[in-house]
Amino acid sequence: PLVSMKEMLETAKANGYAVGQFNINNLEYVQAILQAAEEEKSPVILGVSEGAGKYMGGFKVVVAMVKALMEEYGTTVPVAIHLDHGSSFEKVAQAIHAGFTSVMIDASHSPIEENIAITKKVTELAHIHGVSVEAEVGTVGGEEDGVIGGIQYADLEECKRIVAETGIDCLAPALGSVHGPYKGEPNLGFKEMEEISEAVKIPLVLHGGTGIPLKDIQKAISLGTAKINVNTENQMAQTAAVRKVLEEKPELYDPRKYLGPGTEAIKQTVIGKMREFGSSQKA
Ligand code: G3H
Ligand code: ZN
Repeated sequence: PLVSMKEMLETAKANGYAVGQFNINNLEYVQAILQAAEEEKSPVILGVSEGAGKYMGGFKVVVAMVKALMEEYGTTVPVAIHLDHGSSFEKVAQAIHAGFTSVMIDASHSPIEENIAITKKVTELAHIHGVSVEAEVGTVGGEEDGVIGGIQYADLEECKRIVAETGIDCLAPALGSVHGPYKGEPNLGFKEMEEISEAVKIPLVLHGGTGIPLKDIQKAISLGTAKINVNTENQMAQTAAVRKVLEEKPELYDPRKYLGPGTEAIKQTVIGKMREFGSSQKA
């Protein structure tokens, strides 16, 4: 069923695993991720960035596509459709009205007062609709949807304030993670993660899941992380598979023949992540 992230993440946190957010870019991503989730009996979050939403034809198209595939597959595991890095109240409202079950408002690049104010407004609207809310404090490094940012660690007091003053369901404190591949090993602020988790109590979210080694994933989960976002790794796996087919068979022109292997690569990548996150067999 289509659900918000609230219960999914509370259950995950209480039971020591994390639910993966896998970003979608088109039909094939939804197919691959829903199939992986059902086979693994894992709850799952479909992440939709504003750019990807636009690419797919708009938020309503996304919701209709996900619902239709879930019906076609007879999906039994919990699925959330989540706006990833929502940039404004307006965009969040559009997503909620289109039928998204979860939203992130990312005002992390604004001063904390503004971040709190917009997050509060978003949470009031979202909760009326039974939609869960994620907010971010500090900034994740790397690039997402054309926005390039440097790493800025989340401040403990700001984390406490945003949770207490807005009523959000989960918090993404940026602690050294990066969107896209890491240059060398990631260096996550686990001490800060522990302090923030103990102070705010709600499930934490780890962005930039691509390229984080298993030991760090496990450590983050043990310190209160209940949601891990993965995007780039699926894109790289899909693209490598498509590229291989096209290079091996330059005479191909039927998209099903080269996109199919790409879809299978996404599915296998997602299955691997679900096992690493411990969410397999939890739905
Ligand atoms: O919000 C999306 C994620 O944080 C994805 O990060 O592309 O590095 O896996 P990633
Ligand atoms: Zn992110």
